[in-house]
Amino acid sequence: MRHFLKETDFSREEIAKIFALARRFKLERGRHEKPLANQTWAMIFAKASTRTRVSFEVGIHELGGNPLFLNTSDIQIGRGETISDTAKVLSRFVQGLIVRTYAQTDLVELAAHSGLPVVNALTNFLHPCQIYADAFTAAERWAGAQGDLLAALKGRKVTFLGDTSFNIANSWILGANLFGMKVSLGGPAGHEPAPEIRALATQMGGAYHFTSDPYEAVAGADIVYTDVWASMGQESEAAERQRRMMPFQVTGKLFAAAKPDALFMHCLPAHAGEEVTAEVLNHPRCVIFDEAGNRLHVQKAILTMLARGQI
Ligand code: CP
Ligand code: NVA
Repeated sequence: MRHFLKETDFSREEIAKIFALARRFKLERGRHEKPLANQTWAMIFAKASTRTRVSFEVGIHELGGNPLFLNTSDIQIGRGETISDTAKVLSRFVQGLIVRTYAQTDLVELAAHSGLPVVNALTNFLHPCQIYADAFTAAERWAGAQGDLLAALKGRKVTFLGDTSFNIANSWILGANLFGMKVSLGGPAGHEPAPEIRALATQMGGAYHFTSDPYEAVAGADIVYTDVWASMGQESEAAERQRRMMPFQVTGKLFAAAKPDALFMHCLPAHAGEEVTAEVLNHPRCVIFDEAGNRLHVQKAILTMLARGQI
């Protein structure tokens, strides 16, 4: 049983196929094969979502399947039923699970007990669907209409600024190494990636650069990326985080210190005036809505891969 719990669950060869299929799905928009015909995929969400929820619901529908959205506060998980019991029950009804929750270990447990393909729709540790869609977004700009998407990423540098010790930063560490990119992290001293992500990076022979100097971090960057400073579940720490991360705010001046043709990216939702200024959000090289739109096409390709076992 294949799952998509972390970036490295697919090989480079498989990612090349996923990107190629996403490109075709984007062109054909719904007028294509239906690999999820007669299937229902449950979407178990313990946190809020706009992009992930809508892109998966629309995507499953376009692939011929039926999405079943389950907020954890509405199902018995919210009253203490175990994840493993829930997984065993759901496996009697549905063909796949898409899960947004807090602990990555809960996702791993679900994958172990359900007998169903499980997709990570964001945990505190990783957000792999986001990073695949982001890499696809940059690649389609750099490769053009016909070029090799994965090859277009090779040797490029992505700089992540701000909360360098949470899901999006972690996912870029894995993703960049997998896509053949360099990754630089600019964040407050002591806010370095956790041992778990360092171990995964080492395991794949990967590397990353961490600095507390935002200008050093963005030098030579092809992508400047940021995320909210207080993620879902960290709302009580917002003021303290804002104070510590302010030097890493993506301003017009900081963005201009990257390569002259660099892209600005953000997974969204964004907070103008906090992690990024309104000037950068309105910049011609800001591609945030392309990233959001590409979630649909890339996730449809991932679901096709999981449903068929290959593409
Ligand atoms: N980027 C992202 O995952 O957005 P949502 O939280 O709206 O799903
Ligand atoms: N780091 C953010 C990402 C939202 C898509 C969060 O976890 O809330």
